[in-house]
Amino acid sequence: MIALLDPPVITIDGPSGSGKGTIARKVANALDFHLLDSGALYRLVAIAAKKNGIALTDCDALALLARDLDIRFDSNNKLSEKVFMDDIDVTLEVRKESTGAQASVVAGLTEVRLALLGRQRAFQVPPGLVADGRDMGTNVFPSAAIKVFLTAGAEVRAKRRHKQLKDQGVDVNLAALSRDIKGRDERDSSRLVAPLKPAKNARILDSSELSIETVTNTVLEWVAEL
Ligand code: DC
Repeated sequence: MIALLDPPVITIDGPSGSGKGTIARKVANALDFHLLDSGALYRLVAIAAKKNGIALTDCDALALLARDLDIRFDSNNKLSEKVFMDDIDVTLEVRKESTGAQASVVAGLTEVRLALLGRQRAFQVPPGLVADGRDMGTNVFPSAAIKVFLTAGAEVRAKRRHKQLKDQGVDVNLAALSRDIKGRDERDSSRLVAPLKPAKNARILDSSELSIETVTNTVLEWVAEL
């Protein structure tokens, strides 16, 4: 039997505010690849938990919820994506800072991560996939063609997120936001299961001083070298 090659995967992992969501979308658009925003899955579990009155410590109930989530990403629009749960548009709720903080808590549960593993791998379909998250290169797609670990200084990341929220009309205090991001990074990096860390063969890219265009082009050059 002829073994068919798996569609190529490019993983982009990194901490909050490193720009991985923006870069992943631009790289996916340039290559006409599919896009997996894995953080959105953890965010959706947190939203569904709240809706169903499930505590963020109830591993078994949360794992069931994660397994059975009825979700849909509408990527017709290449600039941004709409997220639906049970056919209801939950895009705004998914993007809230409070949802991100709750997602970071459920993401620490092995049972939830396992329940989402297959769902994430199902995104690997032709012509290829760009996957962004925290453990795309280490756990979900260990044999990805290119693994990028995108970083940026903590202050730069907080300022970027602050501007992003301001542009969306959300007024938050920069110092409080900076504290929240730090707390989330610490939780994501220190957890026992699939912590945020670069894969052994990841290419580390510090975007603190780089434009979105430069980072995107750097990743696309790596792809062209394949
Ligand atoms: O990338 P994001 O801000 O949407 O992610 C929300 C939270 O989900 C983040 O704090 C950590 C968690 N997460 C994870 O543990 N693994 C992933 N692959 C993606 C996100």
